[in-house]
Order: sequence, then C-alpha cells, then structure tokens
Amino acid sequence: MIRALPTLPIICGLLLLLPLCPKVSAQANAKEVSLYDDTDNVEMLDVESLRPALYQNTHCKLVQFLNSFCGDCQRFAPIFKVLSRDLYKWRRLLRIYGVDCAQERNSALCRDYNIRQTPTLRFFRPDVTNTTIVYGTDIFTKNPDFINNITANLISRNDYGPGQPNFLPLKPGETAESLFQSYQDAQSPVKFFAVVLQEPSRPDHPINIGRNTLLDLLPYKEVAVRYAEQPDIFANFGLKPSNENLAIFGKDGSAQYLTSSADTSEAYVQAVGEFLEKQNIKPEPPLPAPKEKNDGSFLDIQKQAILAEVLKPPERVYRADLEQAIDKILHVELQKWVSNGEGYYRALTNIITVISDLNPLNEDGKVLLTTLRKELSTKQTIKGSDLKTLVANSEDGLGIFKARRYIGCIGSRPLLRSFTCSLWTLFHYLTVEAAKPPQLQPPGSVLNAILGYARYFFGCTDCAVQFQQMAIRRNLTSVKSYDGQILWLWAAHNEVNQRIAGDPITEDPKFKKIQFPSSENCPPCRDSNGEWVNEEVLKYLKSLYDKKNLSFYGLPTTMGYD
Ligand SMILES: Cc1cc2nc3c(=O)[nH]c(=O)nc-3n(C[C@H](O)[C@H](O)[C@H](O)COP(=O)(O)OP(=O)(O)OC[C@H]3O[C@@H](n4cnc5c(N)ncnc54)[C@H](O)[C@@H]3O)c2cc1C
Ligand SMILES: *[C@@H]1O[C@H](CO)[C@@H](O)[C@H](O)[C@H]1NC(C)=O
Ligand SMILES: *[C@@H]1O[C@H](CO)[C@@H](O)[C@H](O)[C@H]1NC(C)=O
Ligand SMILES: *[C@@H]1O[C@H](CO)[C@@H](O)[C@H](O)[C@H]1NC(C)=O
Ligand SMILES: *[C@@H]1O[C@H](CO)[C@@H](O)[C@H](O)[C@H]1NC(C)=O
Repeated sequence: MIRALPTLPIICGLLLLLPLCPKVSAQANAKEVSLYDDTDNVEMLDVESLRPALYQNTHCKLVQFLNSFCGDCQRFAPIFKVLSRDLYKWRRLLRIYGVDCAQERNSALCRDYNIRQTPTLRFFRPDVTNTTIVYGTDIFTKNPDFINNITANLISRNDYGPGQPNFLPLKPGETAESLFQSYQDAQSPVKFFAVVLQEPSRPDHPINIGRNTLLDLLPYKEVAVRYAEQPDIFANFGLKPSNENLAIFGKDGSAQYLTSSADTSEAYVQAVGEFLEKQNIKPEPPLPAPKEKNDGSFLDIQKQAILAEVLKPPERVYRADLEQAIDKILHVELQKWVSNGEGYYRALTNIITVISDLNPLNEDGKVLLTTLRKELSTKQTIKGSDLKTLVANSEDGLGIFKARRYIGCIGSRPLLRSFTCSLWTLFHYLTVEAAKPPQLQPPGSVLNAILGYARYFFGCTDCAVQFQQMAIRRNLTSVKSYDGQILWLWAAHNEVNQRIAGDPITEDPKFKKIQFPSSENCPPCRDSNGEWVNEEVLKYLKSLYDKKNLSFYGLPTTMGYD
C-alpha cells in the first residue's frame, strides 16, 4: 500500500469519483489557509461575517483587506502580526479583522467596499449601521508606529457611552465623586480612577500622554483613566498642589499622587500597574503566545506526490495551472472592479478576447469564453456585479474548471506560488500560442491585454504597479512582432525574478527564482560568455509553452480537450 501511494494523484486525477480519493473532491472545503488567524489577534472574516462584525457597536474595528497571493501582503503580514498582537491590549475598544479578497466568495464584498489595492487598512467607528454602506477611514501607511498612532487617534474620537472609557478631558467642575457616579452600576468593576495631566502646550510632556495611558491601561477593568488639561485639577480632587502629573483615586475616597520614572505613557502605565498590583488587581491576561504553526501537514501525501512529479525534469507546463489562472481571472479578479469606465471596459474585452482566441480550456471552456465575448460585444460597458451574473449564466451547465488545484504552480508551503505563478504561465502560453497560425491576434495584442489586466484587475497591487512601470521602461507598446512579444514577456519576467530572488517570505525554497531558463534545462540558451542567445531562448519557450506539449497531469481527464 505504501509503495502504491505516490501514484495516487494520477489515479485520482484521472478518476475523480473513485471513493479512494475523497481528498480531491473535498479540497474546496478543506480549511482555508490565510495569512492570519486568531492567534495573531486577527480574525479572518468574509462575505457572510464582515458586515455583522462591523455592526457591533461596542467597539471600533480595524480591517485589513488583503490578497493572500500577493507578495506585498505576504511581506506585510509579519509586521502586521506584531502590531495586532500588541494591540490586543486595546481589545475592549478595538477588534482587528482580515478579509481575503482573493477568495471567490469575497469578490463582491471587496467590490462593495471599493478595495482598489491590497493591502488596504480601514478603520470603522463603533456606530456603523446597516442602513447605508460605510467605507471606513483608510489608513495609508504600512509603518506599524504610524498605524498604531492613527488608530489610537481614531479610537479616541468616539463616545463609548456611560461607564465606558472616556477620551474627553475632565471638565473644571468634575470631582472624584462625580466621576464615580457614572460608574454606579453594581456591575461596574471600576474601583479606581487614574487622572493624568496632559497640558496642551508643555514641551516636556508628550502630546496624547493621557490618551495613550488610557489605552494602555485598558487591560485593567478596575481602573478608569481620565486626563485633565489644567494643572490645578488635582485640587478639585482633594490633593495638595504639587509637581506630579499622575494621581489615583479610590472608590473608598482614597487619593494619592503616583510617582513615575518618567513623563511618558509607558512609565505612567507602569506606575498605575504597580499600584494596582499592591491592591491585588491584575490585568486581563495577554494573548497567548502563538502556537508553532505546523506547515508539515500542508504537504499531505498527494501534494508530496505532485511536488515530486513537478520537480522531476524536464520542466513542463501544466494545463491545470492554465485553468486555475483563467478560473480565478473570471471569478475573482474581473468581478472586483467597481467603476464601469471606458478604459476598464476595453481592458476587460481585451483580456477576454485574447483568452478566447488562444483558449487552452476544454470544449465547454471554449463555449464559455465565446459566449462571454459575444455578450460583451453587445454592451458599451459592464459593471463588475453584472459581470458576475454574466459569467455565472454563461457557464451554467458546463463542466470546465474541474481539478481546481495548482500542479506546476504548487508551493511547498501554504500561499506560496499558486495564482501569480499560474498567471505568468498563462501569459507566456498566450504569447507563444499567438505566434502560431492562424494568428488570430495581431502582434502585440497579448502584451497589451496583459498590461490592461495589470492596470485594472490584478489584485496584487505592487505587482501591477511594477509591471506598468516596466511596460514604459521596456517600451511594451512598441513590440510589433510575435516573436518580439514572446521575448519581451520572457525578459520582463526575468527582471521580476531578479528583483525578488532570495526574498525570504515570498520565495519558495523548492522553486528558487532564477534567470530563466536554467542552463541545465536549455544549454544552448546561453553562449560561452553566459550571454543570452535569443533565438535559442525563443525556440525553448515555443516548445515549452506549446499547447501540444501541455501536461494533463492532475486533471481528471484528457477528454474534451483538443
Ligand atoms: C505580472 C506580474 C508581476 C509581478 N510582479 C511582482 C513584484 O513586483 N513583486 C513580487 O514580489 N512579486 C511579483 N509577482 C509575483 C512573482 O513574480 C511570482 O509569481 C511569485 O513570487 C511566485 O513565484 P514562482 O516561484 O511560482 O514563479 P513565477 O515567477 O511565478 O513563474 C512561474 C513559472 O514560470 C516559469 N518562468 C520563470 N521565469 C520565466 C521567464 N523569464 N520566462 C518564461 N517562463 C518563466 C517557471 O516555470 C516558473 O515556475 C508578479 C507576478 C506577475 C504575474
Ligand atoms: C438592519 O438591522 C436592523 C436591526 O438589527 C434589522 O431589523 C433590519 O432588518 C436590518 N436591515 C437590513 C437592510 O439588513
Ligand atoms: C501621532 O499622531 C499625532 C496626531 O494624532 C501627531 O501629532 C504625532 O506626531 C504622531 N506621532 C507619531 C510618532 O507619528
Ligand atoms: C525604448 O525606446 C526608446 C526610444 O524609442 C529607446 O531609446 C530605448 O532604448 C528603448 N528601450 C528598450 C528597453 O528597448
Ligand atoms: C514538445 O517538446 C519537445 C521536447 O520537450 C520538443 O522536441 C517538441 O518540438 C515540442 N513540441 C512542439 C509542438 O513544440
């Protein structure tokens, strides 16, 4: 049995319905891998759960809209994890969520929230209701200190109601008694008030010191923090005037200054914490340390077998990957677009036309693309939401995307390679296919369609920006031959490979970024000086990406393909 296992994917690939192979068909339901989870203090939400979470009116929400396949989002993830774990201390007022716009079911959601780039950070106030769509406030930075600061500022601008944290400065007439009155509720755990002096124009005193002390003491539910802007405030509270800037008052009438090691919110938090410790009051426990993530289970026996097959020379291109790319383009990427402007519409029809003419899908897949193309040609423009309906109606009853998994683009860890890899594969395939008779697409049109796709639809914002810059720098629009088109994309892809080679987060150690093709795979592609021999590269690409040479490995059947 053990020895028979490596062939399992092939058997299962060919006979999807074999009871032996439950994993293949169940794959869509497998627990979704995403960049974050609860141990990061980031709860992943989706089309079902985001809105209800936003309507919770007891706290603010920080939502990261992301694309799990995009390198930029992957590189931001470790930074955001540190930040969100730290902000667990603000949990009474702030929940942190993630939404993966790369999941098909979320495309309408990300469109509704007008997500034009990923990652996008949005802050939502507690009072969001379901009556109108509220887009939240964009936080335009990836610097964790700025995010922290901006979020603190946004949190502090809300009224959380009686008995809840209060960010307004103390009014001159307020006293310890009047303060405790707002906590009369027997349920209220508040036993102490800390009062921080935050004078607006004191150079030796950090601005927002009161706000920050309040926020960082949130884990102590027994203490409420207020700040005051007038130095004589402590007199109202029964303390003799002094140079101290921090005092604490008990429900029992006790009152005292607290001495801190410095005039910083950290030092104030520490001083109050030590005081409370003596009263035997402890903070809410912090977020438990993250569990060791066990990626080992990711490579189940099937994936191991696929990986072994893919790593076996010679290099091959797999139809399963082309299908995956087109599947995601049609069902996720194209549907997210919000506007219906002219440039968008042209880019949409261009990519559909090119894929339709050079279609690697089965007969049903050809019907789908032809229908889409015809339907689009009868319109002047179309909205992303209508496109969703159009795609759904056009593929109704057809069997097109069957395997729904990456083969040549399999990663050795979750979230590596996959969609962007399949996209490159599709693009190269299209340039090679365009060069063959009957040459339905004029030279340059595939590159033009890719450029339009990058500009309007590509969910990896950073990739799209870089690609458009490259298009200008490398004169994409001046490419006027089929072979030139193949080589342009090859060289552009190599530029990207060079730029991101060795990135510890996005590079798959089993698929290192190289200047492609390797000299093992194509010895004549480089001359004795190591310089490219373009004719040989062209020959290699034309053979590797030729439709006739595509591998069916991993697809349920070869039936229905040409
Ligand atoms: C248009 C575009 C722009 C991108 N820009 C960025 C970016 O700016 N920053 C970033 O971090 N990521 C970017 N990415 C993602 C990145 O290029 C990879 O797709 C991702 O890191 C996964 O890499 P991979 O190992 O699967 O190989 P990929 O680079 O995705 O390549 C897929 C397959 O194509 C073949 N191949 C490799 N090089 C060539 C070549 N020169 N010519 C022909 N075939 C080749 C190989 O078989 C390889 O396995 C971009 C992706 C796309 C589609
Ligand atoms: C909005 O919320 C209210 C109260 O929960 C509910 O009664 C109403 O049906 C909701 N409206 C919509 C459009 O969901
Ligand atoms: C934090 O934000 C405030 C405005 O709320 C600003 O004045 C201050 O300079 C910011 N501090 C940092 C470190 O960014
Ligand atoms: C792009 O075109 C300009 C002018 O036509 C030329 O000078 C430049 O060398 C070209 N760049 C590339 C990379 O082909
Ligand atoms: C398919 O690949 C082989 C070698 O891998 C090559 O000899 C052949 O020419 C290719 N077929 C086409 C149609 O390019």
